[in-house]
Amino acid sequence: MSLEDNFNFEDFRRVAKKKLPAPIFHYIDGGSDDEVTLKRNTDSFSKCDLVPNILASVGEPDLSTKVLGSKIDMPLFLSPVAMQRLFHHEGDKASARAAEKFGTFYSMSTMATSSIEEIANTASGPKMFQIYIHKTQGLTDNLIDRCKSSGFNAMCLTVDTIVAGNRERDHKWGFTTPPKLTLKSLMSFATHPMWTINYLTHEKFQLPNVSQFVKKSSSIAKGVMEYINEQYDPAMSWKDAEYCIKRWGGPFALKGVMSVEDAKRAIDIGASAIMLSNHGGRQLDGSRAPFDQLEKIVDAVGGKIEIIVDGGIRRGTHVLKALSLGATACSFGKGFLFALSAGGQKGVEIMLQRMKEELRRDMILLGKKNIGDLSKENLAFRD
Ligand SMILES: Cc1cc2nc3c(=O)[nH]c(=O)nc-3n(C[C@H](O)[C@H](O)[C@H](O)COP(=O)(O)O)c2cc1C
Repeated sequence: MSLEDNFNFEDFRRVAKKKLPAPIFHYIDGGSDDEVTLKRNTDSFSKCDLVPNILASVGEPDLSTKVLGSKIDMPLFLSPVAMQRLFHHEGDKASARAAEKFGTFYSMSTMATSSIEEIANTASGPKMFQIYIHKTQGLTDNLIDRCKSSGFNAMCLTVDTIVAGNRERDHKWGFTTPPKLTLKSLMSFATHPMWTINYLTHEKFQLPNVSQFVKKSSSIAKGVMEYINEQYDPAMSWKDAEYCIKRWGGPFALKGVMSVEDAKRAIDIGASAIMLSNHGGRQLDGSRAPFDQLEKIVDAVGGKIEIIVDGGIRRGTHVLKALSLGATACSFGKGFLFALSAGGQKGVEIMLQRMKEELRRDMILLGKKNIGDLSKENLAFRD
């Protein structure tokens, strides 16, 4: 089967499941506790239906929009994701190049397996860096300053991960970073020889953005939850967020805002955007789906701060529903990760192409020429 035979999220997920050793597939696919929030994130988009307008003389719709100071060619971009080198040997470089081709944001995690400088030299499209505040002094300043000198366009601070969510699939499958050969995981690596050969014959696994500061923890195989609980600062506060915004001095988002009160406070401290997100259901299980919370947030802060919806997005119609309710743009994680796992840069390009085609087709079917033409009038809610 060729990569081109994959038409949607579920197709790529199936291929990724075949290609990846089980601990790695489940690290991407899983959520916390009972995975209630993970599931609800996507289900929430079904609570309303699209209502098209006819005979609107649409012609060719314009999918471009502006977010975090950059014009992007489609209203969907790549969420920051840790350790992409594990999913495909080209890792972040593949994602960044694919995003560049589609004129949209690539986002780099603090826990990326490529360095800030490497990615700056690899892709010239819009780039956002995501900060995790570590206990180690000096790391945050170092990251912000490196992003400035490397020409990154925007930053976000993840505020929903001061302690690790309970990701039971990681325990069950013995997921560690770098991957460790245990009796449990051995079978899975042995039965995925292509992944194992690629992993062993390409550049060494590393976490170059943090390795200088957390030498030991970034090279010894350990669980992600263990790393988060050891290294991230659980005392992170509004002051820290404000400090990052000031030091960066450019477009800045708080990632993981869910309440109206926090959205208002994000404006007060000078954030340019909030990412309405629950970390793809990987942190607080039982927390609200971003799309379910969107209307309240738009009513309170719409027009005063950009609102990015992240979580559960699998289809172009999900993006269009969020935009109709007042979101500025959307981003997705698993949606591009399974494609990356299936086919590296080409895989991500195909997934972005599919999403772009869906967005274009559905804008025409809705009778809308510009993203700004979408409104609540396009939605009908079920009871
Ligand atoms: C495998 C994986 C790793 C992630 N790593 C990070 C990370 O390093 N930093 C971060 O802010 N969010 C991280 N996220 C969360 C994503 O940025 C995003 O919020 C989430 O994937 C959105 O949900 P979706 O996967 O349903 O699209 C990660 C998500 C996944 C699936």
